[in-house]
Amino acid sequence: MKKGSKIYEGKAKILFEGPDPDTLVQHFKDDATAFNAEMRDVIEGKGVINNYISEHIMLRLNEIGIPTHFIKRLNMREQLVKRVDIVPIEVVVRNVVAGTLSKRLGIAEGTVLPHPLIEFYYKSDALGDPLVTEDHIMVFGWAIPEELDEMVSLSMRINDFLLGLFYGIGLRLIDFKLEFGRLIEDDMLRLVLADEISPDTCRLWDMNTNEKLDKDRFRLKMGGVKEGYQEVARRLGVLPRMQGKTAERAAEESAEEKE
Ligand code: TMP
Repeated sequence: MKKGSKIYEGKAKILFEGPDPDTLVQHFKDDATAFNAEMRDVIEGKGVINNYISEHIMLRLNEIGIPTHFIKRLNMREQLVKRVDIVPIEVVVRNVVAGTLSKRLGIAEGTVLPHPLIEFYYKSDALGDPLVTEDHIMVFGWAIPEELDEMVSLSMRINDFLLGLFYGIGLRLIDFKLEFGRLIEDDMLRLVLADEISPDTCRLWDMNTNEKLDKDRFRLKMGGVKEGYQEVARRLGVLPRMQGKTAERAAEESAEEKE
């Protein structure tokens, strides 16, 4: 499959034109950033692992009727996705207090919330993705009320599903971030889940030990970042072809598959 020119490069992914105007190729990089790119590094093989984990989750979500941008995985680092117009809001769903919620309100990390908490952040690197309210979203027209309702209801369904999915493999889903996009299908404007779901965008703790197996290992300079992501992939039963393979070999194969 021929991919077209680069249309956008973010901190962890690159988007290329797809084989037709309605599609894009989403390429997962090994770059890791935190705190609005104040901290950066390269975690060899991270992009490959996230590509497989996100594919697995998007497929399962499609199966239960959650519309997503995902079409298919193309190779070790890339997937074919529907071209969408991204809603400039990050939806964060929290089941347990951690991260910025813990810092902002001084509540101990690990405190279990009585029900899931939904937060909205305005997508702006220049402003460091500030926390905003539903009213900000309305007043500034970042989404219309129907879209906001749909984003909340999809986010809650996704949370219920992912809680169970991860519970089944001994992981606690602490929180996660979602992005949605608009597309036109059958002359209708629809909202679909976009971006990725991976240990870059979720907090996942081992059920028995509370060991962190997500990007907090990078943010908190704990080491073993790749090993944490690999453990999540292993428990999900993905990455069969990666086992025992070096990241370099995986990258070579990715390049070969692209040709
Ligand atoms: P936070 O506690 O740092 O606000 O993060 C909440 C969740 O959102 C956590 O699972 C990590 C995820 N997240 C992203 O995916 N991208 C981001 O830029 C940030 C800040 C958080």
